[in-house]
Amino acid sequence: METLNAAIIGGGAIHLCHVGALRQVPGVRLHALAEIDSEKGQALARTYGCHFYQDYRALLWDDEIDVVHICTPHHLHKAMVMEALAAGKHVFCEKPIGLDSREAAEIAGAAARAPGRLAVCYQNRLNPTSRQIMCELAGGTLGKMIGMKAVLTWSRGGRYYTHSPWRGRYATEGGSLLINQAIHTLDLMQWFGGGVARVKGVVDSGELAAVTEAEDSAMATLHFHNGARGLFYASNSYTTDAPLLLEIHCEAGMLQLRDNQLWRVCAGGRTHLISDPSPESDAKAYWGSGHLAAIRQFYQTLHHPSAPAEYTSIEEAGKSLALVEAIYHSSQTRQWITVNA
Ligand SMILES: NC(=O)c1ccc[n+]([C@@H]2O[C@H](COP(=O)([O-])OP(=O)(O)OC[C@H]3O[C@@H](n4cnc5c(N)ncnc54)[C@H](O)[C@@H]3O)[C@@H](O)[C@H]2O)c1
Repeated sequence: METLNAAIIGGGAIHLCHVGALRQVPGVRLHALAEIDSEKGQALARTYGCHFYQDYRALLWDDEIDVVHICTPHHLHKAMVMEALAAGKHVFCEKPIGLDSREAAEIAGAAARAPGRLAVCYQNRLNPTSRQIMCELAGGTLGKMIGMKAVLTWSRGGRYYTHSPWRGRYATEGGSLLINQAIHTLDLMQWFGGGVARVKGVVDSGELAAVTEAEDSAMATLHFHNGARGLFYASNSYTTDAPLLLEIHCEAGMLQLRDNQLWRVCAGGRTHLISDPSPESDAKAYWGSGHLAAIRQFYQTLHHPSAPAEYTSIEEAGKSLALVEAIYHSSQTRQWITVNA
């Protein structure tokens, strides 16, 4: 197997998950890191034994690099992804792919013309519980889906925002709770439900209003294309990072995800189906353990390009971004919004 050279742009919190995964995935080595903070970047590059670039554009000129991982603030994603694709690289970009659907559409156009592949990191789709939910729904024994609810209550203190001032700002994060943390939950909801037709929601800020310009809490009602109704609540102003609570109500029973355990609840009783493992040591528990699986999946496609691609494509990534955008729009207008995904 050919060894691919990977590079990471952005040496902040999440890049640790990428470094950890690259160490474990066969057929890839970390070749370079770009970080605008040169002192931090040089120290990281020394630790990893890789090349350092302060300017990511210089990294993109490095012909030895095959794959670029983008781990930077949201407002930088579009330019970095498009320039990396134009330089002939494969790209693995952290979510969200851009600040809004307009940016996602531009990137999709560029990706369609580029020789490289583009994956977006929605690692929770790779959780064993998520995969099992898809199997249970596809198996059909639970019957038609009627409803779904998700409750995400996490804790982000002031330091989280002051440490990385791009967070919590419309211009640099594109919003806050919805586009950064809850986008994973909305992605799972729309994926499990087969797409959302329309949504009505509100966003607001309470506890974190003094440190973020954008919302710290949100709630929404979702109408899925399949006729099911979804309820969604999320907040970054809880007192701890509680595991996602998700329930799917079907004609013949329910699937319940709580405390990272998946249960099937039918007339005959409650059956434990599967649990999610604890994350790697470098990862925060609320990120889950899916980065390794998502990154491994992408490299499998790069090593075996003729096999069906299974990573989260730009088209898939655009769906949760469109849903986020629709909730923001609904909150402003107090109207039901059609989701253009
Ligand atoms: N998949 C997940 O579960 C998950 C979890 C956390 C963060 N993320 C995503 O990862 C991305 C980064 O988030 P983070 O929490 O690591 O942010 P962070 O603020 O901790 O790190 C961002 C890093 O990018 C660097 N940077 C900024 N501009 C740069 C430039 N022009 N060139 C090179 N480096 C530059 C910063 O100096 C910083 O080190 C975001 O898209 C975020 O949504 C995803």
